Amino acid sequence: MKHLISPLDLSTSELEGILKLGQAIMKNPGKYSNICEGKKLATLFYEPSTRTRLSFEAAMLNLGGKVLGFSSADSSSASKGESVADTIRVISSYADICAMRHPKEGAPTVAAIHSRIPVINAGDGGHNHPTQTLTDLFTIKELTGRLCSLTIGMCGDLKFGRTVHSLINAMVRYENVRFILISPNELKIPDYLRQEVLISGNISFIETNELEKYMPELDILYMTRVQRERFFNEEDYIRLKDSFILDASKMKYAKKDMYVLHPLPRVNEIAAEVDSDPRAVYFKQAEFGVYVRMALIITLLGLN
Ligand code: CP
Repeated sequence: MKHLISPLDLSTSELEGILKLGQAIMKNPGKYSNICEGKKLATLFYEPSTRTRLSFEAAMLNLGGKVLGFSSADSSSASKGESVADTIRVISSYADICAMRHPKEGAPTVAAIHSRIPVINAGDGGHNHPTQTLTDLFTIKELTGRLCSLTIGMCGDLKFGRTVHSLINAMVRYENVRFILISPNELKIPDYLRQEVLISGNISFIETNELEKYMPELDILYMTRVQRERFFNEEDYIRLKDSFILDASKMKYAKKDMYVLHPLPRVNEIAAEVDSDPRAVYFKQAEFGVYVRMALIITLLGLN
């Protein structure tokens, strides 16, 4: 039985397999519409979500399976003090696979230890978000045709943004990938990522607070929201929240074939006027998330 807790739980060939299957599903969804008949997905969301939870549910329904779950800790027995370990022991007899989001880093790892069904990390605190990474890789591959030889700008909250951490971990496995890490000083990537992943892996990267300067070099601009819920005080959030706002004037510096991705939700960091730019692909990216999650469910249930 396989779990997906970090993007590194998948080898590059397993990852390629999921992306290829996602592509096949997108081209011919009818072929897969009954493959999960009789199977159930539990969505255990201890933290708010729109895309991840609903795209997982849509994915399972598209595959002919059923879904059950909860969408907040308050509506589960976690509010009475039940542990993640006990919850997953019970859910293992109700469902065939589960997707878990939790505010505490490592909670899905604890669940996986006690589970009899595959556990998918749907985001744990500021740590990892591997299915967003699958979505991001699918989007980049679909639009640029490659995962290597890319200059990727990541902009915003690189400290708390789990989608950034997971995407860096996944992209360093591809050749000739270069990162431009654009953030305020206080929201730079965590030190473990800088030391153990980028420096140790001899990966080319620049840390800066200048978005316009590096725009012309980028193949991908990955914008992120400042993660209010992870700040210890509101004053710091208010001071930093609008550090970078992508608007039409800044898009003028970008290549004609650069793509703007964002895991969403967006707050202020991308002006609405950018939405109509053909290089703004964040809503397409959210749509692609359903296909990769369908591919992941099929793969983890061993149905392919
Ligand atoms: N991208 C993402 O994780 O969105 P949600 O928080 O809405 O699930």
